[in-house]
Formats: sequence, C-alpha cells, structure tokens
Amino acid sequence: MFRTLYAKLALGLVVLIAAMGLVYALVSFSATRHYLAEVNQQLNRDLARNLVADRDLVAEGRLNELALKSMFHDYMLINPSIEIYLLDLDGRILSYSADPGKVKRKHVSLKPIDAFLDDSASFPLLGDDPRSHDRRKVFSVTPVPSAESPQGYLYVVLRGEMYDFVDEFAEGSYFARLSAWAVAATLAFGLLAGLIVFRLLTRRLQRLTAAMDNFRLSDFSEPAYFQKKPALAAPDEVDRLGVTFDQMAGRIVEQIQELKQQDSLRRDLVAQVSHDLRTPLAALHGYLETLKLKEGTLTAEQRADYFAIVLRQSEYLTRLVGELFELAKLEAQEASPQREPFSLPELVQDVVQKFQLKAGECEVELAMELDADLPLVCADIALVERVLDNLIDNALTHTPPGGTVRVPVRRDAEQVILCVADTGSGIPEGDLPRIFDRFYRVADQQSGNGHAGLGLAIARRIVELHGSELDVRSRPGEGTTFAFGLPVWNAP
Ligand SMILES: Nc1ncnc2c1ncn2[C@@H]1O[C@H](COP(=O)(O)OP(=O)(O)O)[C@@H](O)[C@H]1O
Ligand SMILES: [Mg+2]
Repeated sequence: MFRTLYAKLALGLVVLIAAMGLVYALVSFSATRHYLAEVNQQLNRDLARNLVADRDLVAEGRLNELALKSMFHDYMLINPSIEIYLLDLDGRILSYSADPGKVKRKHVSLKPIDAFLDDSASFPLLGDDPRSHDRRKVFSVTPVPSAESPQGYLYVVLRGEMYDFVDEFAEGSYFARLSAWAVAATLAFGLLAGLIVFRLLTRRLQRLTAAMDNFRLSDFSEPAYFQKKPALAAPDEVDRLGVTFDQMAGRIVEQIQELKQQDSLRRDLVAQVSHDLRTPLAALHGYLETLKLKEGTLTAEQRADYFAIVLRQSEYLTRLVGELFELAKLEAQEASPQREPFSLPELVQDVVQKFQLKAGECEVELAMELDADLPLVCADIALVERVLDNLIDNALTHTPPGGTVRVPVRRDAEQVILCVADTGSGIPEGDLPRIFDRFYRVADQQSGNGHAGLGLAIARRIVELHGSELDVRSRPGEGTTFAFGLPVWNAP
C-alpha cells in the first residue's frame, strides 16, 4: 500500500498535521482554563477580606459567631458559586457554609494560604477543596478576627463554576466553534498544499523510476529517456539525477553495442587468421611429405624446387605471424608511440636507399623530393619507418617497369606532410574504402607478392596513434598517392 515515496510522504504529513491539531487543541484548552482561573482569583482576591468587613463579622476584636452563621446561610442561597469555611490557625475546618454531606476534608493545607497572604506567589494559586480528597481550586483567604492577632482564617473557595464554564464554552460557544473550524480549515489547507507540493516533487521521481524500469526490462538495450524536453533553465537534483541517468543509459547501450561489434570482429579475425595460416601450412606439409616419400626418386632439380617452395611458404608464415603480432600490439590499449624529435628527410633518405635495390629490379625510378629548411618532427621513428617501408614496398610492387615512385616531403603549417606517389596500376574505386582493412587485397592481385594484406592496416594504425590520418588518392591506370602528416617538434 505505502510502497511509493509519495504515499509515505503523504502519510507522514497527515500524521504530522493531526498531531499538530491535537497539540494545539490541548494547549489552547488548558491555557484558557488556566487563564480563566487566574482571572477569577484576581477578581476575587479581596473577597474574603470584604466579607469580613461588609458583614461585620468582627466586633470588638472577636468573631461574631451569629453573624457568621447567618452569612453561611445567606451565601448558600444567594451565591452558590462560593463556599465559605472558617479555619483555625492549623487549617482545621471549624464551620462552613456548604452542605454538610458534601464536605470530605477536616483539614486544609496551610501552604497555599501562607503564600496567598504573603503576596509573593503568582496566580492562579490552588488550595485544597474540602469537598474532595484530592481536588484543588482557586480561593481567597483572610485572617480573622484581624491580621494583627489572627485566631483563624476565613477561607473562601471560588467554586469551580468557571471551570465548568470553560468546558461549556468549548462545547457550545459560537466563538469557540468558529475558531475550531478556523484551525481545522487551516490544517486542512496545509495538508492539501503539502500533498500537492509532494505530488509535484515526486512525480519526476516516479518518471525517473519508470524510465529506469523500462531500461532494465529492455535488457539494457533501449535507453528510456527521462528528459524528453530540452533541459530546464534551473535544474534541481532530480533533473540532474535524470540527466545523469540518461547519459549513463546511453553510454551503457553504446558500450554493449561496441562490445558486440568487437566480439564479432574478433570472431571474423580468428576465422580469417586460421584460414590464412591453414593454406601455407597445408602446402608446407604437402611438399615436405612428398620430399620424404619420394626421397629416392626425385632429381636434384626437383628437390631444389621443392625446398625453395617450402622455404617460401615458411617465410610467408613467419611474416604473417609477425605482422599479426605487430598489429595486435598496435591495437592494444596500451600501445603508445615513443615520441622523439628527429629529422624526417634523413629517415626518408635511409628508407629510399634501402629500397633502391628492389626499385632497380622492378625497373622503377625511386626518388625523394625535399622542401628546403624542413623542421624536426616529433614522432616514433621506428614506427614511422615501418609506415614508409609498407607504402614504398606497395608502390614498387604495383608499379610496372618504366614507372616512377616519388616521395615528397613538404612543410604545411604545424605539420610536415609525407607522400608516396606512384605511377602504377592504381586502385579500383570500389576497393578504395576497404584497402585499409585487415587481410583485404584487391581481387586480381590475390596471388600477388606473398603478402597477406596487413601492411596498410598496420600503417594506418601507426599514423592514427600519432593523431593523424593516412590519406589515399588513386585512379586506375594513373597511379596512387598515400599521404600523412606528422607534428612539427616545438622546442620547449
Ligand atoms: N600503391 C598501390 N597501388 C595499387 N594498389 C595498392 C597500392 N598499395 C596497396 N594497394 C592495394 O591494397 C591492398 C592492400 O595493401 P596491403 O595492406 O599493403 O596488403 P599487401 O601488400 O599485403 O597486399 C593490396 O593488396 C593492393 O591491392
Ligand atoms: Mg603491402
């Protein structure tokens, strides 16, 4: 029943308001009683003394017993709201005006009487009521026959009519009813306003809970957004909670998708790798078996051929495994280039030098073109060399005899741009977007150069690790240009 926050808050508010109403009623009731008792006692403070004076109770320094009796009689008839007692100095009751059957005490306490006569106590001052064993009431008292030579006290109990009046007042008075209604209406209004405010505050929480539930029910695949409208000007904690939840949910969905994608990529890769390993391994195995079985019958030439093939396949395998390992390292999270300042022209010169032999074999002209005053770049020299190796090797492989491969190095703003441009076969437009994929090779070159199609994937990864991009432009029949930039080194 009370499982929602709103229900709990509402219940709490109802209990609080009811308690407030009760406390208010009790406090105001008892305060009114107290106040009326005080007023009663104040007004009748001198009642006892005036009675003594008015009624000539004291004559020649003695109490007039007759006058006292007649006064008792009169007051029983004309003013039942007071009861008059004659006490001795110890508080014992000597005679009284009340109905004899009703008086229960023989003795009243002197302490409140002394306090009354002392003038020091604050009103209302309660004294013993002789008509009851434990009740106490307001009173007036005076020593008789005189304050100078007291022999007893005239003790006047102000009958509790006022008390009863308060009760009646509370029950019947128009004013009391009106104020009770006013209090009730105020509390009801407070309750209503509180409920509305709670409702407004908890509504968004309920929406957030619903959004979270939906998200959970969708198996964390569809973020059910809390915030459909644009963000509020002054968002509070609930809004911030909602926005954070939205962001978290979005992020979770994204990451789950990413993980799934990565997982399927990894599966593809494993399939691809095992396929690429199986083919050369099967060839190796076949030739080795033949060599073993036909050991005696093979001519020296055949044997040399077979060994050459076996050697080539094992070289291919070694290279493939090496490149796979390299790519895996580069793609691992912790791969970060060891940057250092170095001179790009010097590196290009070394690499070009290294490939001159192969260029000669292919009858391709390989040349670099350097801008004047090139600055140092800041990069991982071994990795950049790897990129150059791959690009130049590809260019030489795909350029027919008589063509040229140029390697221009140019300054551009905060970068040095490095290109490898050939006049070779070019790459068909349909293959261009995929040549950087692992194992991707353009179809009619499949049998090619004994490479597995990892070279460009490695090159692109290295360039990306340097915060740059490997760009390619190609036209079939006209040639291909690869280009990338490296950041200029700024001396600290
Ligand atoms: N300079 C180039 N000219 C024409 N085709 C190229 C060139 N460079 C790369 N390619 C194409 O891109 C494919 C992928 O290159 P790469 O990743 O280095 O693999 P691999 O060299 O092992 O074949 C190559 O198979 C080739 O078809
Ligand atoms: Mg290659």
